[in-house]
Amino acid sequence: MNKRVLTGITTTGIPHLGNYVGAIRPAVQSTEGNSDDAYFFLADYHGIIKCHDPEQIHESTLAIAATWLACGLDPERVTFYRQSDIPEIPELTWVFHCACAKGLMNRAHAYKAAVDANNAEGNTDPDHGVSMGLFSYPILMAADILLFNATHIPVGRDQIQHVEMARDIAGRFNHRYRDIFVFPEAVVDEQTALLTGLDGRKMSKSYGNTIPLFDSEKKLRKAIMKIVTNSQQPGEPKDPDDSTVFDIYRAFASKEQSNEMRQRYADGIAWGEAKQALFELINAEIGPFRERYEALMSNPQEVEMILQRGAEKARDEARGRIAAVREAIGIRSLGA
Ligand code: TRP
Repeated sequence: MNKRVLTGITTTGIPHLGNYVGAIRPAVQSTEGNSDDAYFFLADYHGIIKCHDPEQIHESTLAIAATWLACGLDPERVTFYRQSDIPEIPELTWVFHCACAKGLMNRAHAYKAAVDANNAEGNTDPDHGVSMGLFSYPILMAADILLFNATHIPVGRDQIQHVEMARDIAGRFNHRYRDIFVFPEAVVDEQTALLTGLDGRKMSKSYGNTIPLFDSEKKLRKAIMKIVTNSQQPGEPKDPDDSTVFDIYRAFASKEQSNEMRQRYADGIAWGEAKQALFELINAEIGPFRERYEALMSNPQEVEMILQRGAEKARDEARGRIAAVREAIGIRSLGA
């Protein structure tokens, strides 16, 4: 069985530095220097589950596509597409709805979290605010994965359960009809750093502690200057292992650079200076990407063309599999 890597990026929000370190950079690196067959896609049908602002969905789709391309994702090497350009995905999603026990979805943790929140708030309806999209979100994700018979699914911890549900659904379908789908496996990278945010907690949009990725250089510097530090004075030795500034520095530095910086902390570097060094290090890495990002953002037709080419490649594969599924379930021409 051939290895095929596949992962989706939900199109809500604009990528920040934490997304870059935690997902984009490792994913792009993983596609370099090997001949793995890789599929990356913009999960815009997943985006509309929680985000109901059409402008935001649209802007986020462009920004995320431009970000991944700017950071070096090579659309010639990987198949890079938009979920909504592949009509076979929603088609398979329905077929899977009919092969998936409702009880399996009752156990999905995004749904359970919503129910728990309703109960905690004393809401009389445990399903208050829960759409069918949220409820069966793992079925759409199973279709994303199984349509392409992907084997390796790089995801964050919170998505492991969904990949397991895709395996369940594949098993149920194969058993009922015939062996069409392979069993995917979640790949969780334990090495990848979760970037620390401005306030010392994990960098996350929901904490409002993010550093922008491709805002102007000036805004990047301004955000870095806002990182919370202790009140130690210049000249006082500082503990790098108790510093958000150093924590972020480490995510961009080579081993030698890290060690050198450790020494400067011990020597009493001023916080302002440490932050300036951090700004310069980050900017040296992402500066060239920022230019490409800006070029793509001001030329959305180019991004659209790249996505259309990706969709063609993806659909070449999808059509054959959906035809096999239709045949297997008895949806076929009456004339043959
Ligand atoms: N649900 C995933 C997330 O929120 C995104 C996603 C959608 C995905 N479809 C996928 C990831 C298929 C891997 C495979 O992160």
